[in-house]
Amino acid sequence: DKIVLAYSGGLDTSVIIPWLKDNYDCEVIAVVVNVGQKEDFKSVEEKAYLIGASKFYAIDKTEEFVEEYVFPTLKMGGVYENKYLLGTAMARPVITKALVEIAQKEKAKYIAHGATGKGNDQVRFELGVKALDPTIEIIAPWRIWDIKSREEEIAYLEEKGITLPFPKKSPYSRDENIFHISHEGFDLELPENEPNYDNILQWTNTVENAPDKGEYIKLEFIKGIPVKLNDETLSGSEIISKLNKIGGLHGIGILDMVENRLVGMKSRGVYETPGGTILFYAHEELERLCLDKDTAHMKQLLSQEFSKLIYNGKWFTTLRKSLSAFGDITQEYVTGEVKIKLYKGNMILAGCKSPYSLHSESFSTFEGDNVYNQKDAEGFINLFGLPLKIESLLKRPVKLH
Ligand code: ARG
Ligand code: SIN
Repeated sequence: DKIVLAYSGGLDTSVIIPWLKDNYDCEVIAVVVNVGQKEDFKSVEEKAYLIGASKFYAIDKTEEFVEEYVFPTLKMGGVYENKYLLGTAMARPVITKALVEIAQKEKAKYIAHGATGKGNDQVRFELGVKALDPTIEIIAPWRIWDIKSREEEIAYLEEKGITLPFPKKSPYSRDENIFHISHEGFDLELPENEPNYDNILQWTNTVENAPDKGEYIKLEFIKGIPVKLNDETLSGSEIISKLNKIGGLHGIGILDMVENRLVGMKSRGVYETPGGTILFYAHEELERLCLDKDTAHMKQLLSQEFSKLIYNGKWFTTLRKSLSAFGDITQEYVTGEVKIKLYKGNMILAGCKSPYSLHSESFSTFEGDNVYNQKDAEGFINLFGLPLKIESLLKRPVKLH
């Protein structure tokens, strides 16, 4: 039989290869899915074969990740617990899809992943597999074996006669893709500790190191999708990459948060999402101009539900698709330009414009009297205030004399 392994090239997923061969008597096909992480895929491949993989795939899903996962989430304004932009949660389903595609092509019976039994990622991988191909079985070694530490992992490999030059890794648990990089564990586990940003940050300047001079950017959206940055037409992934650079320079999008994991425990993490933070902000500001009040308010409620679905690994569900269909219709007229000044960790709105803007200067000033007659307000207020008036009349203190 064959096992398709979600492989990263790191120590954790490397130990899994000999362990699977020992315990399942299967060949292991290592698959690394490129979602924009900065990685040398050639050396990942060499590592995989050295450790005993029978086959290796590097699948590029970066553009698909951006177009089919990030942008639908942007359209719905999905932000978990009003803070986390879901960078890891959005990427797991597209990674899972790639794994399932390879498993089907290779007629593999199993998919294995390196997520622990304590986290969200195990749920996201496994719900994805169940939705896309319920005949495939899952193996999650971290829920099975007794290996507990980096030292034990290295010892296990040495036992198997494998000594690899695993560079001394950072103590943080990280997950990187084109949209964000997350940092968890080590000294962050105590929420009272201020993050040691000089050691943690990979993409972003601290506010202190950001330039003393601000910088303007202009984003253009068509139907809720960003299409131009500073008047240049770019692909989705190009826009995010460029915004990451500019935003990173100015210290935008650093987040420190305690979040509620699906499995019931709280965890603390630091996230860098420079480009995504700018995109979500710009998009939201454009919507203020283009969405009518009722739709905007309903969207706020539904976007919370949407964010929970994504966080909890339910990307491939009818409910998620239905909410996305709602999202698509709301974006019909979310077209226009947003200018923002970036300055030392701040985003300062510098103008917003849309051919479909519902804001009209002449309607809200005194010249608007042909669309709106101020006299109508009197009748409106009489009816709008009727319950108040009735209640007040009936509660009138009773005069005795
Ligand atoms: N806490 C975040 C989430 O659940 C980030 C998880 C990062 N995963 C990782 N394997 N390092 O989406
Ligand atoms: C893990 O536990 O594998 C990483 C963190 C998470 O999945 O939430």
